[in-house]
Amino acid sequence: MPSILIQNGTIVNADSTVKADLLIDGAIIKEVRAGIPASAADTIVDASGLLVMPGGIDAHTHLDMPFGGTCSADDFETGTRAAAIGGTTTIVDFAIQARGTRMRSALDTWWKKAEGKACIDYGLHMIITDLPDAGLEDMDDMVREGVASFKLFMAYPNVLMVDDATIFKAMRQTAKNGALICMHAENGSVIDVIVQQALAEGKTAPIYHALTRPTVAEAEAVHRAIAMAEMAGVPVYIVHLSSEDALNQVREARDRGLPAFAETCPQYLLLSIEDNMQDKGWEGAKYVFTPPLREKRNQPKLWQGLRKDHLQVVSTDHCPFCFEDQKALGKDDFTKIPNGGPGIENRLQLLHHHGVGQGNLSLNRFVELVSTAPARIFGMYPKKGVLAAGSDADIVLWDEKADLTISAATHHMRVDYSMFEGFKVRGNARDVYSRGELIVSKGKFIGKPGRGQYLRREARGGAWK
Ligand code: URP
Ligand code: ZN
Ligand code: ZN
Repeated sequence: MPSILIQNGTIVNADSTVKADLLIDGAIIKEVRAGIPASAADTIVDASGLLVMPGGIDAHTHLDMPFGGTCSADDFETGTRAAAIGGTTTIVDFAIQARGTRMRSALDTWWKKAEGKACIDYGLHMIITDLPDAGLEDMDDMVREGVASFKLFMAYPNVLMVDDATIFKAMRQTAKNGALICMHAENGSVIDVIVQQALAEGKTAPIYHALTRPTVAEAEAVHRAIAMAEMAGVPVYIVHLSSEDALNQVREARDRGLPAFAETCPQYLLLSIEDNMQDKGWEGAKYVFTPPLREKRNQPKLWQGLRKDHLQVVSTDHCPFCFEDQKALGKDDFTKIPNGGPGIENRLQLLHHHGVGQGNLSLNRFVELVSTAPARIFGMYPKKGVLAAGSDADIVLWDEKADLTISAATHHMRVDYSMFEGFKVRGNARDVYSRGELIVSKGKFIGKPGRGQYLRREARGGAWK
């Protein structure tokens, strides 16, 4: 592969912003400093007026995932292509252990899903649905395969939910093998009672999905997850945190010095029950995901959480289902609407515009939230998540002045609606390199499906700072 010199750009890492040049040698960054001579490279790229950032890392995606009687609409090809166009060069997707089966078989299944399709590098978390004694060995086996994190569900009774004993056992195993437990924290049993009552009262419209999942049910589960992690002596990572009540639990734990981490997603920062579900009838099905959209008053609290490091990561929970023929499965009953929404392409654009552009985040914090922190927490740093000598040349040339109106008519995700339809954003990826290969040029994808590699992540036991 030719060497490439990116000149005259502004290099933005989580901890620094400098005018410097960046030399790529093959798949790796060779040097970052001012004044690298043009003679050092085969190809020169002028990045005047552009930011040069580490590629985005989306630590929470669901590609080609069976769910709710259907399958998420993006596969590893369409999903990772859309991700790349939006400046994301790495994802961590979720393999699902089917109840009564070994985790290795799920890992093999997900590797096959990605094979020949992934356009960018990908890691896998493992979703644990049951945990007999052999499952504890399976966890160690997964860690040896680079699956350094496991997701457990405190919600979705009879489908994905596991009991506290299972959670605690899994946590204790990570105390030995160094992996990280990711928690879907909502009290599923309580929610189920509220849901059954709503259905009995004839409340079947999409908005009742949100109204039957109180923020206290999220906060209670976050509290319980952190308490169990404290007893097991391990860190815990709360996925898709959506509300102030839940955030308070994470903040209090961190104030006590506990290794509790959490992510939120653009939909919780920018969308709400009032704006997107209230009086919207069936349209509200576009926003049926779990945890649900919350009242608008939660949004500034989440932004503050990002600023103050009570929240460490912004990921997407990309789990697209087409409105026309998939969301329609729940036309008469909100519990049958497949849960999930699309977002893999727009994460950086939305967070840059509403975060950096509107004074909610510094540029460095933006880079930390979308790239560096997930790399550290999920065992990929410094291979990923930083522009430094020796790191993978996963690089985004970011045009802060590029204007975009987000729309399903122009996006690249294989889904027939956008959660952010009509949102106007300033700032977008112009060129994207993945391990030194230009895969997006002037906003057009030019990479090859199947070029993305499986990432063996390190189990670091939460020792990420
Ligand atoms: O509604 C959602 N979030 N769907 C994806 C599965 C999950 O819980 O993350
Ligand atoms: Zn979840
Ligand atoms: Zn998810």
